[in-house]
Amino acid sequence: MLIQSGIDLNINFSVLDPDPQAPCHQLAPFTCGKLTDYQTVWNFGQDCDLITIEIENVNTVALADLVKAGKKVFPQPSIIELIQDKRKQKQFFKDHQIPTADFLLVENKSDILDHKSYLPAVNKLGREGYDGRGVQMLRTEQDLPKAFDAPGLLEKLIDFEKEIAVIVSRNENGVVAAFPAVEMVFHPEANLVEYLFSPAQLKEEVAKQAKEIAEHVIQSLGLVGLLAVEMFVTRDGQVLVNEVAPRPHNSGHQTIEANVTSQYEQHLRAILGLPPGDTSCTCASAMVNVLGEEGFTGMARYEGLNEVLSLAGAHIHLYGKKQTKPFRKMGHVTLVDPDLESLKTKANFVKNNLKVKS
Ligand SMILES: Nc1ncnc2c1ncn2[C@@H]1O[C@H](COP(=O)(O)OP(=O)(O)OP(=O)(O)O)[C@@H](O)[C@H]1O
Ligand SMILES: [Mg+2]
Repeated sequence: MLIQSGIDLNINFSVLDPDPQAPCHQLAPFTCGKLTDYQTVWNFGQDCDLITIEIENVNTVALADLVKAGKKVFPQPSIIELIQDKRKQKQFFKDHQIPTADFLLVENKSDILDHKSYLPAVNKLGREGYDGRGVQMLRTEQDLPKAFDAPGLLEKLIDFEKEIAVIVSRNENGVVAAFPAVEMVFHPEANLVEYLFSPAQLKEEVAKQAKEIAEHVIQSLGLVGLLAVEMFVTRDGQVLVNEVAPRPHNSGHQTIEANVTSQYEQHLRAILGLPPGDTSCTCASAMVNVLGEEGFTGMARYEGLNEVLSLAGAHIHLYGKKQTKPFRKMGHVTLVDPDLESLKTKANFVKNNLKVKS
């Protein structure tokens, strides 16, 4: 999606990805290699003028050396490093007066057992947890045996009304632009965003607060590029930052069809030192992730494509992944429709009819 958007700006891409069948492998000169390997990242960067990332799990030492060697790397390696570790991220929020759930740093399981009084809490791995895999709820003492035995966090469990995200960009001149907030609905088991509605239905002052917080976060980080700021809205209208991601994000896919500027174009504008585009919504929209059906692993086969394509305002994005497995993100569908009820009906229709099996 980033490449699609870059074509309009005359950008030549090269891609590094560990999967030889990565969705982009036929779209641009492709290097298959480990993103976490110093030499691989260093070598790849030699032929680029500017390097950006779409996953935080990357060798930041190599990226920092590329900066020293005169290459532009956005987002900046030091910020990727900070965000890679949820512990550092939370500490950063605290140090910069960014509202966030109260937390404790924990080193291992026995440390967690010593803080029973902190429950109900959310236990998060400091590093390498993503898509809900490094996060678990510890509601009562009965949940303690499953606590992670690794450096992480215990966060107070927030009884939120909504989860929202604001995607914000900043270029090298410090010009910041925020997209309107979106509202996320999570899959109860997979911990993945299942639907998303844009714009989020929020009271004006809550929407304003969310926007200001997102802008404050990106300014405090000094990040160049795109930042997705995931937030909770509590029942009394407080906005708390959950976590941030320094790249185009799942919660911004709908911007391709439903905003004047897409998050991908905005990311490119930011890292290329161009002015930001208009972030306004052109229409209300919903985004549904297309996940691998439970119980199916193997060559992907899609059911219900015709039915979904027949819906007014439906746009299908398949990621070109050959293999499906339960809950693997295989694509997404954006629905544009000015009527919120109709959007919800269509989102449910997509969810119930579009299936990825093997
Ligand atoms: N303090 C909290 N209180 C209540 N719920 C929480 C808390 N922290 C996280 N959650 C829930 O767990 C989900 C996943 O947490 P988080 O976003 O930190 O993990 P993640 O693995 O990075 O997820 P992803 O990669 O999907 O964004 C959140 O979206 C939210 O629904
Ligand atoms: Mg998250």
